[in-house]
Amino acid sequence: QDPRIPRIASSIRVVPDFPKKGIMFQDITTLLLDPKAFKDTVDLFVERYTGRDISVVAGVEARGFIFGPPIALAIGAKFIPLRKPRKLPGEVISENYVLEYGTDCLEMHIGAVQPGERALVVDDLIATGGTLCAAMSLLERAGAEVVECACVIELPELKGRERLNGKPLFILMESH
Ligand code: PRP
Ligand code: MG
Repeated sequence: QDPRIPRIASSIRVVPDFPKKGIMFQDITTLLLDPKAFKDTVDLFVERYTGRDISVVAGVEARGFIFGPPIALAIGAKFIPLRKPRKLPGEVISENYVLEYGTDCLEMHIGAVQPGERALVVDDLIATGGTLCAAMSLLERAGAEVVECACVIELPELKGRERLNGKPLFILMESH
């Protein structure tokens, strides 16, 4: 295991019973307060995706907007925000999905990605996998090829990985 990962892991605060009873909330805002942990996190993704011919990094609102852009800049890819409903001003495509707590929808601007482009989907965490599935659907409906999904944290007991239809998932750590 990469020696940077334990420090990143210890910088993430776990908040019990937030936002609902029984949920162990993985709070990455404390990771962002540690510049070395934040840089190491971005670097680990950049090292993996440099030279992989990825022209698009898509980040999921809100926490995918924190990790996606620095990765996109470093690998020379464009960044596409996948947003919650009614936030994007242009013409959009939408995907509804079921979340660990509630239901939601993601939208992407039509024309943000061209058919055949190779995309990386970035978020902070995979729980049930519903969010990443919706994100991948948006990109694939627009004709992009999703190379991989990348998250800082996986909650393995929610089996989100199984929901990704065999699409590779790269994570830095598991959380229980
Ligand atoms: C959280 C997290 C992931 C998603 C994972 O986001 O940031 O995006 O849940 O859950 P899933 O794998 O079960 O779909 P949330 O929708 O709570 O909103 P936020 O990022 O805007 O805080
Ligand atoms: Mg999120």
